Amino acid sequence: MKLLIKGGRLLDPSQGTDAQLDILVEDGKVSRIGESLQAEGAEVVQADGKLVVPGLLDIHVHLRDPGYEYKEDIVSGTRAAAAGGFTSIACMPNTNPFNDNKSVTWYIRSRAKEEGFANVFPLGSITKCLKGETLVEMGDLKEAGCVGFTDDGRPVANGEVMRRAMEYATGFGMPILSHSEDLSIVGDGVMNEGFVATELGLKGIPWVGEAAAIARDVMLAEFTGARLHICHISCRQSLDVVRAAKARGVKVTCEVTPHHFTLTEDAVRGYDTNTKVNPPLRSADDVAAMCEGLADGTIDAIATDHAPHHIDEKNVEYKIALNGLVGLESALPLTLSLVDDEVISLTRAIELLTCGPATALGIPRGTLAVGSVADIAIIDPELEWTLEAAKLTSKSKNTPFDGWQMKGAAVQTILGGKTVYQK
Ligand code: DOR
Ligand code: ZN
Repeated sequence: MKLLIKGGRLLDPSQGTDAQLDILVEDGKVSRIGESLQAEGAEVVQADGKLVVPGLLDIHVHLRDPGYEYKEDIVSGTRAAAAGGFTSIACMPNTNPFNDNKSVTWYIRSRAKEEGFANVFPLGSITKCLKGETLVEMGDLKEAGCVGFTDDGRPVANGEVMRRAMEYATGFGMPILSHSEDLSIVGDGVMNEGFVATELGLKGIPWVGEAAAIARDVMLAEFTGARLHICHISCRQSLDVVRAAKARGVKVTCEVTPHHFTLTEDAVRGYDTNTKVNPPLRSADDVAAMCEGLADGTIDAIATDHAPHHIDEKNVEYKIALNGLVGLESALPLTLSLVDDEVISLTRAIELLTCGPATALGIPRGTLAVGSVADIAIIDPELEWTLEAAKLTSKSKNTPFDGWQMKGAAVQTILGGKTVYQK
């Protein structure tokens, strides 16, 4: 089976490619890249005026399967990924049962392989049942196909446990992903600490609850030599910690979500519970810091923290609503708006959604080098559309971007040479 994508602007930051080039796919792999390619018997896709990029990679997705399929499942979640231009996702272990043993990893991988619309790379937990006490069998989980370890949703509060986790993970050549939160500081806050929280009468979460936890983990990574990835960074001070650690040569990477570089705590006015996320939406200065980090290379990846919840879990008072929002179908246009606003270049935007996250976790994707798997997104960067929550592919509709005017969308998503989404 041959597929010839003609006339598009091929943008592959992993190869330093940005030119009008055709790409030929044979047997699910990129077989040739060049000008005016011809291939007999190939299905031709005309991509004039479009961007042709490596399939996007989201390293922070809650697929909710097994256990919470009423929010999302492997089929609906990967379908939402494909609709957003993503061909690969890494999924979080806070399912039920938790992905803290190889049978859950096997289940996720086999279901994704049989019925999924994207590659799914499972992340195993660091501790059994995410309790922060007993380490998982990292060797088992690696063998079963996990690509890293995280207790995301909860921090590993005990520093000694985190130290040992890093030592073992390093022995297996695997990264630790940190959900950095000092719960003794965060307490029962529900939004960013500051004037807005006071005005709204909601309990605040100060930046130091995040930055202090990141500082500990960065130090532990420096001490153990582990590869550490910081999830959903949200404040200026956190970024300063990571920037300084990188300068010292610590093996640390970090991600930011589209909501943390787009929205401020002001979005919480009106008490829309779809703005309730963990970490919370921060101040305008923090958003500015995220943009600086994206531009100067401190931030390695844009990741969605796609966290579907049922309407009954959101249609409640702010204080008790569950944290999280769905992000797979809005990430690309929100990232491209940074390009329109001249915060980052288009190449950097695509890098942050492809080889950036791939390199951070060591996932063999995010490139269109000849011989690589033909996971491709064809993007219309000029397409204007309105996000309608009710029309999202995801099972859950918890987005704060309902009714937003968006620019840019994936018009065709190709997984291993096969079209899995077409607008
Ligand atoms: O907002 C969030 N939702 N942050 C997390 O860390 C966990 C996630 C979830 O699982 O819903
Ligand atoms: Zn988290």
